[in-house]
Amino acid sequence: MRIIVKETAREASKHIADAIIGTVKAKPDAVLGLATGSSPLEIYSMLKTDHQNRKTDYRKVRTFNLDEYLGMNPHDPHSYRHYMEKNLFNALNIRDENTHLPDDAYKEDPAAYDERIEAEGGIDLQLLGIGLNGHIGFNEPGVKAGTLTHVTRLEESTRKANARFFESPDEVPTHAITMGIQTILSSRRIFLIATGKKKASIIRDVVDNGVNNAIPATFLKTHPDVSLILDKDAASML
Ligand code: F6R
Repeated sequence: MRIIVKETAREASKHIADAIIGTVKAKPDAVLGLATGSSPLEIYSMLKTDHQNRKTDYRKVRTFNLDEYLGMNPHDPHSYRHYMEKNLFNALNIRDENTHLPDDAYKEDPAAYDERIEAEGGIDLQLLGIGLNGHIGFNEPGVKAGTLTHVTRLEESTRKANARFFESPDEVPTHAITMGIQTILSSRRIFLIATGKKKASIIRDVVDNGVNNAIPATFLKTHPDVSLILDKDAASML
């Protein structure tokens, strides 16, 4: 696992935005694995600016998001589909049919999402954030190593952390569909971004501990090409 520490969150975002743009330029039909939450917002904003100014072409790009809330209408402003449209897809020349989220269509057979990813050639670059409990995607502590895309119950701490996007904490869904650990590890290249003081202790725990399912992000240590991109605050306990 490579650890790269940048002075600011902006520089950390720029590092990953450049890697994504480089991937799309080198392979116009690249398959990107995408995340939601606060961490990727600046990256997405940089991708939009780059597309506007330098016309990086997303016509053939395919995307697969890590997760989606279970039972969520895609038009609901709290859905991850809505988040992706608003924060990225709307401003790119990406085709609707090339953007995928593990929504309710995969409820009965979540592993069909893995089959779809494989059918598109596999993920070239996967972007990850990290939860305060070490989750990646919504693979919560206790998850098993070999998991494919699956329905999961969100930990109360995760629901609490995500309550900021809802009017009240009770509205945060209890379940989601998420890529599994195996799905994530099947990507060719993985970038995890963590910024801010709040992430410092979980980043220390990931770095200091061996692979174990109490801290799902430690599974990344079994992958040959993972970069943790941190700002100084997130790296402050290393
Ligand atoms: C989002 C996701 C989650 C987030 C994590 C960190 O699609 O899969 O694992 O990356 O909860 O969220 P933020 O970036 O809001 O701190």
